[in-house]
Amino acid sequence: AGTGKFFVGGNWKCNGTKESITKLVSDLNSATLEPDVDVVVAPPFVYIDQVKNSLTERIDISAQNSWVQKGGAFTGEISVEQLKDIGCNWVVLGHSERRHIIGEDNQFIGKKAAYALIEGLGVIACIGELLQEREAGKTFEVCYQQLKAFADAVPSWDNIVIAYEPVWAIGTGKVATPQQAQEVHIAVRDWLKKNVSDEVASKTRIIYGGSVNGSNCAELAKQEDIDGFLVGGASLKGPEFATIVNSVT
Ligand code: G3P
Repeated sequence: AGTGKFFVGGNWKCNGTKESITKLVSDLNSATLEPDVDVVVAPPFVYIDQVKNSLTERIDISAQNSWVQKGGAFTGEISVEQLKDIGCNWVVLGHSERRHIIGEDNQFIGKKAAYALIEGLGVIACIGELLQEREAGKTFEVCYQQLKAFADAVPSWDNIVIAYEPVWAIGTGKVATPQQAQEVHIAVRDWLKKNVSDEVASKTRIIYGGSVNGSNCAELAKQEDIDGFLVGGASLKGPEFATIVNSVT
């Protein structure tokens, strides 16, 4: 950790029921969290209101996706305006599951990020390579293309956190080593320096996601350019998520 306030997000993905979320919220409410860490959870859309009404204000709320323009005749979509209306301050965009399962491309994701930022949401902008891309030596190239699509579209970097999530590490239990993660994080920072500005490079938080858990978080958090985490599976367990939040110390 080195840049800005440590940032830990819990991406609950498409998990949970009213009952399990009640329990998770109560565990989070009773957890002791380091004060100097930004903490955000991203429940499924349908539970955001329940979470907003029961979760401590210490923890911010994110959506897992948002629509690319103002709401209207877009069946099945959720607009940025609606998210703001129910008290969401963040949105996760460009997650690998939306890129590779749903088929969202760089340009579409860039447009979504721009719209969300203009309307006042913070964006957790995800990037990351597939296993075959890593094996083909294309990790940096893929991450730079994904970054460029964000950079070309967004009006400002003030409200963006970059999440590096190597796809081969997501939900697999196969975490990147601290060195593997650090190597990409510093490359991302250098890319920002060359292509955006020194200021954006030095203040943008770059967080790591992919099989982060209570046992591997401390080593990862020691890396200079790992400024937090985006946690999937382990964020569904309140005490373990708290351990990850507190790994900054
Ligand atoms: O967005 C977080 C994520 O994709 C990582 O998931 O389950 O490997 O921690 P997980």
